[in-house]
Amino acid sequence: MRILLLTHSFNSLSQRLYAELTARDHHVSVELDISDAVTEDAVRLFRPDVIVAPFLKRAVPESVWRRCLCLIVHPGIRGDRGPSALDWAVLRQERRWGVTVLQAEAEMDAGPVWAWREFPMRNTRKSSLYRFEVTEAATAAVLEAIGRKSAGDWSPRPVDDHDTEVRGSWQDAMRQADRRIDWASDDTATVLRKIYSGDGNPGVVDEICGEAVRVFDAHAEEHLRGSPGALIAHRNDAVCRATVDGAIWLGRLRPIDADASTFKLPASRVLAAQIATLPENRLPLAAAASFSTYRDIAYVERDRVGYLTFDFYNGAMSTARCRRLLEAYRYAVSRPTRVIVLMGGADFFCNGLDLNLIEAAQSPADESWANINAMDDLAEAIINTTSHATIAALAGNAGAGGVFLALAADRVLVRDGVVLNPHYKNMGNLYGSEYWTYLLPKRVGRDGIEAVMGNRLPLLASNAVGMGLADYLGPGERHAFHAEATTLASDLANGAGFTRLLRIKRRSRREDEHRKPLRAYREQELARMRLNFYGFDPSYHVARFRFVHRTPHAWTPLFLAAHRRLGWQPPVSPATREAGGAVRIAS
Ligand code: COA
Repeated sequence: MRILLLTHSFNSLSQRLYAELTARDHHVSVELDISDAVTEDAVRLFRPDVIVAPFLKRAVPESVWRRCLCLIVHPGIRGDRGPSALDWAVLRQERRWGVTVLQAEAEMDAGPVWAWREFPMRNTRKSSLYRFEVTEAATAAVLEAIGRKSAGDWSPRPVDDHDTEVRGSWQDAMRQADRRIDWASDDTATVLRKIYSGDGNPGVVDEICGEAVRVFDAHAEEHLRGSPGALIAHRNDAVCRATVDGAIWLGRLRPIDADASTFKLPASRVLAAQIATLPENRLPLAAAASFSTYRDIAYVERDRVGYLTFDFYNGAMSTARCRRLLEAYRYAVSRPTRVIVLMGGADFFCNGLDLNLIEAAQSPADESWANINAMDDLAEAIINTTSHATIAALAGNAGAGGVFLALAADRVLVRDGVVLNPHYKNMGNLYGSEYWTYLLPKRVGRDGIEAVMGNRLPLLASNAVGMGLADYLGPGERHAFHAEATTLASDLANGAGFTRLLRIKRRSRREDEHRKPLRAYREQELARMRLNFYGFDPSYHVARFRFVHRTPHAWTPLFLAAHRRLGWQPPVSPATREAGGAVRIAS
C-alpha cells in the first residue's frame, strides 16, 4: 500500500512505524504537519491508500480525511479523548493504559476504531512510557489496522458500540495547575508522579530558590532529609530537594525567561550560584543499588561479568559525563572479571554529544571539540581493552556517535524494537568521529559504508543485525532482554572458548594497529570535525541551534518526503497494474 505518515515531527514512534512499514514492502513517505495547504498538497502528490498520523498536535483538515482514510494513533485506551492522554494516565496512576488507532472524523478522537492494544503501566516518566509501552502497542495496532485495510474485509467499530471494555472518556488538556507541586504538603511519591506526568514535555513549572524553572528528570532519594522544599545537596548534574517525607533529586531544569528561548540544562548548572554552599553528596561507583537515589553511572559484578550502566538523561553525553564514564570504565577494566557489558541507559543507549550543553557554552565550537575528544577517549579505551571481552547491550535507541560507541565493543546485542540512527549527516552534515572509520568497515565492509553513513533514515534492530552492524537480536520485552544480555555475558565469561577468544582479540588489535594506528583514524576524523566546528560552513551550528531550540519545521526534508523529490512517480499499486495502467501525477 501507499502510506503517508503525517506527523508533527519525525519522532521515535514515527521512525519506528516508518521502518516497520517499509520493511513490510509498503511504499511509505513522510509529510511533517506544517499547514493544511501543505498536507493537502502532499496527499495530491502521493495519492496515499492510507494516511497514518502517529503524532499530531492539530486536527487533520476535513478536506483530507474526507478524501482518504486517515488513521490517528491516540495514546489512550478506547473511549479516551483529548490532547493530554498519557499525562493524565501517569498523574492518575492508571494501572493499565493503551493505544487506540481510530479513523479521523470531525470530532477529535471520536472516530471509529480500527485497532487497539493495552499494557500494564510502569511508575516512570511519560517519555519513557511513550518510548517503550506506547511505541510497542502503537506499532502492533497500526500494523493490525493496515492489515485490516489491506484485506478489505473489516469494518471499524464506533468507539461506544456497546463495548463494556471501553473505559475512557474526554479529558481536557492538562494545565500547569493540575500538576503544580506543593512542597509543604506533597509527599515524595506525589512529587515524583507530578514531574513524571510532564517529562519530557512540558515539564512542571516550579520555583527553586527564587528561580522560575520547569523541572525534569526526577529521582527519589531514600536517605537524605531536610525541611520540605529546601535544597539539601548536589551530586554531579543534579540537586536534591527535601519533601515532607524524604527527598527528590532533580537532574534537568529549563529556566523560564519571558525574553529568551530556553532549553533543558543540568540542574547543577542552572542553580550554580545557589548550590555553591551546599554539601556535595558523592556516591561511590559500586554503591549498593538496593536503595533509591540518583545514580547516572552504576557498576555491578556477577558471575565474572561487570555491568556498567550509564543512564544519562536523553542519552546525551557531555564532556563531563564522558570523563566520568571513562573513569568508571577504567575501574571496570581493573577488576578481576572477564567480560564488561556496556548497558547504556533505560531509555537510550546513547545519543552522542550533549548538544544542549554545547549550545549553552560560551564557545560552542570549543565545547564541541572538547566533547568529541572526550567521546573519542572513551571509545579508544573500549577498543583498546584486551584484558576483557566487551559487549554493548542496547535496550534503548541510539543515534549518531552513540551507535558508534556501541560498535567499539566486541559484540553488540540489540533489543528487538530499538531504532538506530547510525549517521551524523542530519546534524548539519557532521563528519563524525568515535573511530567510525575504523569500526564500521570491519562490520559492513568498504562497500557497506555508504549504505550506513549516506542513509539518513532510521534502522530497525533486525536490519542492523541483518547488515552486520550488530551481532544479536535480543527479545523485545525489557526484562527478557536483560536476562538475554546476562546469559550472553555469563556464557562468554565462563565458556571454554574465553581464553582463545581473548588471544584472537589481542592478535587482531595488534595487527590492526600495525596496519594503521588508531591515532591516525582519530586524527583524520577530527581534521574533518574541526572543519565542521571551526570552518566556514555553519551548517552544524545552524542545525544544532534548530534542534536544541525545537525550531518549528518549515518544510519536510526530501529524504523523508519521497513524493516531493524531483521526477518522483507514485509506485504502481497491484490494483493499477491489474487494470494495465500507469498512475500519473496531476500537476
Ligand atoms: N544532546 C542533547 N539532547 C539530545 C540529544 C543530544 N545529542 N539527542 C537527543 N536529545 C534530546 C532531544 O532534544 C529531546 O529532548 P526533549 O526531552 O526536550 O524533547 C530528547 O532527547 C528526545 O529526542 P528526540 O529527537 O525527540 O528523540 P527521537 O527518538 O525522536 O530521535 C535521534 C532520536 C537520535 C534521531 C535524535 O534525538 C537526534 O538526532 N539526536 C542528535 C544526535 C546527534 O546528532 N548527536 C550529535 C553528534 S554525535
